[in-house]
Amino acid sequence: MFKEKNVLVMVSGSVAAYKSATLVRLLIKSGAQVRVGMTTAAQEFITSKTLSILSGNDVLTDLFVGHTSDVVHIDWAKWADIIFVVPATANIIGKLAQGIADDAVTTTIMASIADKIIAPAMNDNMLTNPAVVRNIETLKKDGWFVIEPAVGFLAEGYSAQGRLPEPVDILQQSAVRLRAKNGLLIGKKIIITAGGTHEALDPVRYLTNRSSGKMGYALARAAAEMGADVILITTIAREDIFGVKKIFVNSAQEMFDASIQAFATADIFISAAAVSDFKPAEKAIHKIKKQANGGLTLRLVQNPDILRTIGQSKKNHQIVIGFAAETQEILAHGQDKLIKKNADMLIINDVSRSDTGFSSDDNAVTILIPGRLPETLSKASKIDIARAIMTQVITLK
Ligand code: CTP
Repeated sequence: MFKEKNVLVMVSGSVAAYKSATLVRLLIKSGAQVRVGMTTAAQEFITSKTLSILSGNDVLTDLFVGHTSDVVHIDWAKWADIIFVVPATANIIGKLAQGIADDAVTTTIMASIADKIIAPAMNDNMLTNPAVVRNIETLKKDGWFVIEPAVGFLAEGYSAQGRLPEPVDILQQSAVRLRAKNGLLIGKKIIITAGGTHEALDPVRYLTNRSSGKMGYALARAAAEMGADVILITTIAREDIFGVKKIFVNSAQEMFDASIQAFATADIFISAAAVSDFKPAEKAIHKIKKQANGGLTLRLVQNPDILRTIGQSKKNHQIVIGFAAETQEILAHGQDKLIKKNADMLIINDVSRSDTGFSSDDNAVTILIPGRLPETLSKASKIDIARAIMTQVITLK
């Protein structure tokens, strides 16, 4: 995302200013050209020398001193593709929200049409001060991407919201946001299910399967990168993904209820979960004890089919996509499921392969779309497969 981009890192006077050094290093490592500007207060916390060495460029600290150009703020403003204000104090937030340009940093920012990202970091009472809240809202309305301050140990010696998130998180969130800016799924709500369901036998035991949820998470990430609002209904806790709201469920019935509810206002539904077809007919209230006769017979009953219910009786304008885990005659079984579940796309996973599928980081799939020839995506990382699938999804509209 930042490769070959001109990135301006503007540092203001917060104790978190030291983290701007890491941000500069990470940006350089990802292939960006980086320049740094500092307010007078920032230079009380970290030296311009440090940031000059790390960025490989002179640091902008003054409009009138140390430049050959008469209009240094215009030159820098034009040069920048992306501007970060990290960390951002209440003071600089106020100035940028109100249009005050009274130093090298604010003047340059105001003269630039680059993408702008700001990461507030301050005392928790300052952060909730009505003026600061108002100014942050103004910046959002003006098109700034505001990185939410993290909850954690503040310089004041207690834990609260106000901490500058780690530079790696700032970059990850920014990359998603910048990619999504021109994304083809902006304004679309996508529901994705992920993971194997848990069908309780008693308070401590359940039936499940080998699904890791990785493919569902990869799809959620790929959809968020394209600008979608994603709801991930999942049995498995994996990484947080910016732009993705997780709803945790256990059983197929819980996944069914959450999916039906979310689907009503959705544009796209992707059923990537390995939903258990069966559940124990009864859930014991207490832990089942060893049996006197040495064995235990379980009676199972069928779970609702989420994809089929949605495809057959809930679908209006929405696009509905399913997966098929197959071990033999994969095309025939896939075609059969596409029709039976009234899906707009069906993605076949050959789960008999040991190098792809379930807990692997890679996958290889065949995509079926009614009226089109099957398309096979050969082995690649799950995120690359997910991006390729989402590219196909866009063509369905
Ligand atoms: N699915 C679902 N609800 C179920 C079972 C499956 O929503 N109770 C969805 C899966 O998320 C997947 C698709 O249906 O998108 C196909 O799942 P799969 O396990 O391959 O097929 P089944 O329908 O369960 O059929 P079978 O196990 O007989 O092959």
